[in-house]
Formats: sequence, C-alpha cells, structure tokens
Amino acid sequence: NQNYKGHGSSKGKEREQRALIRFKTTLSNTLTDVLRNRPGWVEVKDEGEWDFYWCDVSWLRENFDHTYMDEHVRISHFRNHYELTRKNYMVKNLKRFRKQLEREAGRLEAAKCDFFPKTFEMPCEYHLFVEEFRKNPGITWIMKPVARSQGKGIFLFRRLKDVMDWRKGTAGRRLASLEAQPARNTVNPSSSHDTRGSDDQKDDMPVENYVAQRYIENPYLIGGRKFDLRVYVLVMSYLPLRAWLYRDGFARFSNTRFTLNSIDDQYVHLTNVAVQKTSPDYHPKKGCKWMLQRFRQYLASRHGPEAVEALFRDMDNIFVRSLQSVHKVIISDKHCFELYGYDILIDEDLKPWLLEVNASPSLTASSQEDYELKTCLLEDTLHVVDMEGRLTGREKRVGGFDLMWNDGPVSREDGAPDTSGTGNSVTNTHLGCINNRKEQLRQLFCSLQVQKKASS
Ligand SMILES: Nc1ncnc2c1ncn2[C@@H]1O[C@H](COP(=O)(O)OP(=O)(O)O)[C@@H](O)[C@H]1O
Ligand SMILES: [Mg+2]
Repeated sequence: NQNYKGHGSSKGKEREQRALIRFKTTLSNTLTDVLRNRPGWVEVKDEGEWDFYWCDVSWLRENFDHTYMDEHVRISHFRNHYELTRKNYMVKNLKRFRKQLEREAGRLEAAKCDFFPKTFEMPCEYHLFVEEFRKNPGITWIMKPVARSQGKGIFLFRRLKDVMDWRKGTAGRRLASLEAQPARNTVNPSSSHDTRGSDDQKDDMPVENYVAQRYIENPYLIGGRKFDLRVYVLVMSYLPLRAWLYRDGFARFSNTRFTLNSIDDQYVHLTNVAVQKTSPDYHPKKGCKWMLQRFRQYLASRHGPEAVEALFRDMDNIFVRSLQSVHKVIISDKHCFELYGYDILIDEDLKPWLLEVNASPSLTASSQEDYELKTCLLEDTLHVVDMEGRLTGREKRVGGFDLMWNDGPVSREDGAPDTSGTGNSVTNTHLGCINNRKEQLRQLFCSLQVQKKASS
C-alpha cells in the first residue's frame, strides 16, 4: 500500500544504531537552515523515508491517518491541534474548562481562567452575541475569521448594522457555495477544521466562521503605540501534559499611535508583522519588534520588579491553563510534538489577555535579531525533541527552554525564595530573563557524555 510506504520503517533497529536522521520539511525559512545544519541529519525529498517531519497542518490533515510511523519517528503537530489553535475551539474549550473548575474547585479557581476576552462564535451564537452587545452600548468589538492568520479578514465595529451586513454577506456566500457544489458539505465544520497554517492562505474557504470578541480598548502603550507579545511554548505530550516555555520572544508594535477614533485603521489596531510591514511608516531596518528581555526591563524600570513578576506569573497561568483546557481533548500521540506561538495582549492595568494560539508561528525572520532568535528557538526545539537520544528525560532546562509543566508544576531547583505571596514554590519559568543557552547546552551535553561514559 503506497500510503503506508515506510516512514522510518527501519524496523527492528534501535535508536542508537541510527547514524543518520532523515528529515523532511515543507517549509523554507529559518527552519530549513537549522535542519540542514544539524550534525548527522540528512534531508529527504519526495517519497523518501523519513524519521522526522516538520510538516504543515494541511499535510497532516490529508495524510496523518494513513501514515504508518515507527516508534522513533517524530512529527511537528498533534492530529487535532485545532482544538487549541482555532479561535472558536480555543474559546469553547476554555469555557468548558472554566465550568469544570467551578464545579470541582469553586469560583476562585475558575476565575483563574478569566484571561480571554468575551467571545461568541458567529454565526451560530449570533443571538447570544446580540444580547451581550445590547447590554454594553458603545463598546468596541472585533470580528475575526476562526482559521485565518496574519490579521486577514479582521474588522472592528461598534454598530450592530456592521455585523448584520457581514451576516448577510456570509449567508449569501453560503447559499451560493451550496448551490454551486451540491455534492460537498460545505457547512460541516469538520471539513474546514485544519485550515489554519503558518504563511499559507486560507482565503479559498467557501464558508467562513468568525468569532466576535470584545476589543481590548485600553492596551498598555509604549511610546503611544499598541503591541502584543509572541511567546513560544513547546508541548511534548498531552497525556501526561509536558510543556516547555522558551525564554525569548518579542513584542510586536504598531507603527501608528493608538487611538479609538479610527477603528477602521488596521495599522493602529492590528499588531501583526504581516500588517505593519505594509504600512507607509514601516522602516525595514528598525522593524517593529522588541525582544522580551528589553520589554521586561522597560516594565521593571517603570513599575518595579514585583509588578513585573506578577504580570509574568499571570502569563504562566495562561499557558498552563490553556493547555489544561485541551489536555484531554487533544489526541496524545508519542510521535507528535508542537511548537505553539501564543499571542498575548497586555492592558494598562498590566493584565495579560490571551488572543490566540498559533500552530504554525511564523518562522520567517524579519531582521538579523529575529533570525537569531528563531534559529536558536528551533535548535533548542530539536534538542528537546531529542531524535539523537542524548537526554535522560529528567532535564528541567534545555538551552532556552525551561520545563514548565510535567504532569504538575515544576519547581525551580535553585531554591529561589517565593515572592509570589501564595506560599507556592516558585515555578520553573524564566520568560524574558537572560537566555545564556549556549553555556547551558555546553554544560548539559558535557555532563551527559560523562554520565554515558561512566555507565558504559
Ligand atoms: N480582542 C482584541 N482586543 C484588542 N486587540 C486585538 C484583539 N484581538 C485581536 N487583536 C489585535 O489583532 C491582531 C490579530 O488578531 P489575532 O487574534 O492574533 O488573529 P490573527 O490570526 O489574524 O493573527 C492581534 O495581534 C492584536 O493586535
Ligand atoms: Mg495572531
């Protein structure tokens, strides 16, 4: 059967015996550089057998279910990642998780999930939305297609008429597409489940669902400009949940001063690099990013270290709870791992909000600094995935990654004092802190070699 044509079907061979790791990828950006430069890794094309595949989600959708994979083989997505990475499903799962927490642990615990803006799925929750809309006259809402990226298809509104126009348009398109393709069930959401990709376009979807979400009208501004944060989380397993947080990330700034007077101006309101790059004020050299370290220092100098600690702890809470909300829903498969890009917006009260989680965060570099960040991020991802079989599995840190959750919270081993005031031990996260990854990796691999020698 051609579909089952061996993916890593070097049956019977032990992991250590494999001299070369055969990789495949559909992307061409910093990832290709990292994979090609990795010692002992060789690229395979077309139908060649592979041990490691960094695929896009459309490949996964079409092929995963009929691809045989050997024990050691690894692939860069979970089968139903969309439960977290599609805007409507993410919210559905978070709402369900919040209810469950309320039942099992009480209101206070459930309130720890209040980090996503009020959201309705459209058109199916249209009437609920209208009810909410009427309760809060004058506020701003944002409409976002559930499965597109890079700010495409988004608009802000304050009048119900705008949504009614949108609805008429969607209903009209839906009817037309059904008439044009009577054999295809275009309204079945499962047919468009995985349609989200990194840089790929999803504009060919005949019927599109949206979410209507409360717009955060009071974003924290720096130099009068709005920004959001991109943070990377690596999940190695859902059952048990095992997740790593990367120290580096960045803030993405808008080029235009923030105002609520021009809600139609995407350069003011959407911080996606893909949007800002096309702005007339964009300077390719200056770019529109700050590394997280710079951002953290800036905040500390203005608000003091405690406020910053609290903000970053609240962000850790977002990463862990969002993963917990899907940990029983996502099909855990030992072949799968996933590197997520979280979009976090901070408001002027220093409260972080979760906007969305990306299954295929952009790996294209927009500057030299960005290239370095992404290259290191990917190198460290491959270290954690550990095709080479070098780790013991007990590591709490690998390069820029800190183990954040391992079937439970992971505490810092350095015995740092608890500044959280909760009496909990300090969690093992260092977002926006110094990332001396090179030194750490050197020490780690040195000591692993010593252990190996000692045991052989
Ligand atoms: N609820 C919101 N409040 C304020 N700004 C938002 C909100 N949702 C999205 N944005 C802005 O729009 C941008 C794109 O939204 P996002 O949900 O990340 O969709 P996309 O998949 O197109 O990136 C965000 O990076 C942020 O700048
Ligand atoms: Mg986004």
